[in-house]
Amino acid sequence: MQIAVVGSGYVGLVAGACFADIGHQVLLVDNDRQKLAALRAGEVPIHEKFLPELLQRHRGRLLQFSEDLQGAEKSTVPVYTSEWIRRIILRNGVAADTFDVASNPEFLREGSGVSDFLYPDRIVIGADSERCARVLQETYAPLTNGSYYQQRDPIPRPDRAQTPAPLIVTSTKSAELIKHASNAFLAMKISFINAVSSICESVGADVQQVCQGVGTDSRIGRRFFSPGIGYGGSCFPKDLMAFRSVARECGYDFRLLDEVIRINEEQRRRFLRKVRHALWTLRGKRLAVLDLAFKGGTDDVLESPAVLLVESLLHEGCSICAYDPAAADRAHEVLHGSIEFATNAYDAATDADALLILTEWEEFGSLDLSQLSRRLRYPIVIDGRNLYNPKEMAAHGFSYYSVGRPTVLADGVASAARGTDDIRRNA
Ligand code: UDX
Repeated sequence: MQIAVVGSGYVGLVAGACFADIGHQVLLVDNDRQKLAALRAGEVPIHEKFLPELLQRHRGRLLQFSEDLQGAEKSTVPVYTSEWIRRIILRNGVAADTFDVASNPEFLREGSGVSDFLYPDRIVIGADSERCARVLQETYAPLTNGSYYQQRDPIPRPDRAQTPAPLIVTSTKSAELIKHASNAFLAMKISFINAVSSICESVGADVQQVCQGVGTDSRIGRRFFSPGIGYGGSCFPKDLMAFRSVARECGYDFRLLDEVIRINEEQRRRFLRKVRHALWTLRGKRLAVLDLAFKGGTDDVLESPAVLLVESLLHEGCSICAYDPAAADRAHEVLHGSIEFATNAYDAATDADALLILTEWEEFGSLDLSQLSRRLRYPIVIDGRNLYNPKEMAAHGFSYYSVGRPTVLADGVASAARGTDDIRRNA
């Protein structure tokens, strides 16, 4: 089949490369000439696992690039979008039987978009005619009949994958709602456990134990149930706002979503209070930060809670040295060069008053704790992703603050870091 994909961002580029990998001829259209030139020259403009392999495999063959069409891509659209597009096409004099408008939402997570595309939990096809549904079903046939997984070199199967991929055919409006409702539900799950983490802190319980105890109920599930510094990224924040306003336009006041958003913002503020509490005052403190993307495994800093936190910390007079495995260039841009960057976690930690862990890259969870302790000015770690065991941190002499778990304090360290402020306060 011949497929044109408009927009070569996180979704379009991944989808285009994956469509090529299941055997289609793909034309990727973008109005960003620089990006197209980079893609044609063999560069990979975003950090996505397996994307370099797929581009290498198909560039110039099944995957071509063009700047013929202007436009932006948008992966989540409100209900009725397909209908509006259909009306506009008709108004421009195109005969109704010569085109179809479908809604085919994707559920790709940044960083693992290629695996999510090729090993999806489900493929949703929203079509209002049989012809349209048939064309889209054929498009995904290698995944739904399983032939892709038998080919010589498929992208490796992730642990939880079920193959062949299940297919759900719906109306276009249902498909549009499926996308918004899925993202809203996932964000709600995250806010729910973040709210529970706050209660855990008050009563001295351990939110990781609570997550395990609640999440092993198969009706609830353990995924998207990890407390942290609040969700971010280019989808959840904007999709929740959009869904809320779509609901309002339809006459339904979806206040549950307001609360999900409120808890999310509060979670970030609570983390900031935690940092302030650990260091007493923030003015003049040097902090090491791991890292600034909106989550681990990506270079995307859009709507990143880590960036918002760093901006608040700078505002309060801290200086910051960050280590970012993939997002350093983008973070440097959005923060207008206001922080330093190191090339590894230990250099970032050198002489810092505390280390802040803001995303869950695997390497952040396996640092050499003895080296880290030697490098830091004070062995204080404030972990927004619960990557370490508090007991282990205590054994290494750290004061360790995490989310929804009791804080462990190393003797004398916390008060030393507070330093003269304590003395001033006591006076
Ligand atoms: C999301 C959806 O998962 C995906 O299906 C949709 O197509 C696009 O939006 P993405 O934005 O790439 O994907 O990131 P995701 O992995 O969902 O994480 C979103 C945010 O939630 C991140 O800030 C992440 O750190 C946070 N998160 C996620 C948590 O705080 N806790 C969790 O348990 C899971």
